[in-house]
Amino acid sequence: MNQDELKQAVGQAAVDYIKPHLDDDSIVGVGTGSTANCFIDALANIKHLFDGAVASSEASAERLKSHGIPVFDLNGVSGMDFYIDGADEINERLEMIKGGGAALTREKIVAAVAKKFVCVADESKLVPMLGTFPLPVEVIPMARSHVARELVKLGGDPVWREGVVTDNGGEILDVHNLRIASPMELESSINQITGAITNGLFAQRGADVLLLGTQEGVKTLKA
Ligand code: A5P
Repeated sequence: MNQDELKQAVGQAAVDYIKPHLDDDSIVGVGTGSTANCFIDALANIKHLFDGAVASSEASAERLKSHGIPVFDLNGVSGMDFYIDGADEINERLEMIKGGGAALTREKIVAAVAKKFVCVADESKLVPMLGTFPLPVEVIPMARSHVARELVKLGGDPVWREGVVTDNGGEILDVHNLRIASPMELESSINQITGAITNGLFAQRGADVLLLGTQEGVKTLKA
């Protein structure tokens, strides 16, 4: 199977995973990216089994709506059982780097509300140590240079993702050359930088389940 087929397989596996738990009142939290898109497309086949979705980006909201799946504002939702999303890197503790698609802040917010985070990824995303993929940090635009200088002090090489404006009006710094031995600590340290909105480390709220697409089939890993 090629990478696209692996993504489709885990998208379908995530639908199979949540399906027994859905009812008319269920809200499904939906992530962003090419793997999340495969999940959305598979979810459309069972749209009669749940109430609707909360999306972590305008792009995912549009894709959900194009399938006729109602999309709700998170503020109008009291909770949800599942959040399903991809990752740029994930380790065996199910800590992740996310934000390659610049949706990290809304992803972190929706993930915080959900009872269970189900990560969907092809096997290329599973790594022994996070940090080869540059760590995205969303910043308030006027704070970009300040945050970048602080990130250098933490040992990284931040690069402005020029031309990208997030759904929240923020900008993105991609931090290269970090070997992230302690993801929870680094997540906290970056959160302390004034002007940083969110960083793409999902360690304090990592995934609960990883559905990993491999040549031997979809494997289920738990935190
Ligand atoms: C979006 O901002 C990201 O966090 C994505 O979830 C992540 O980049 C994975 O995307 P792909 O499934 O396209 O690799």
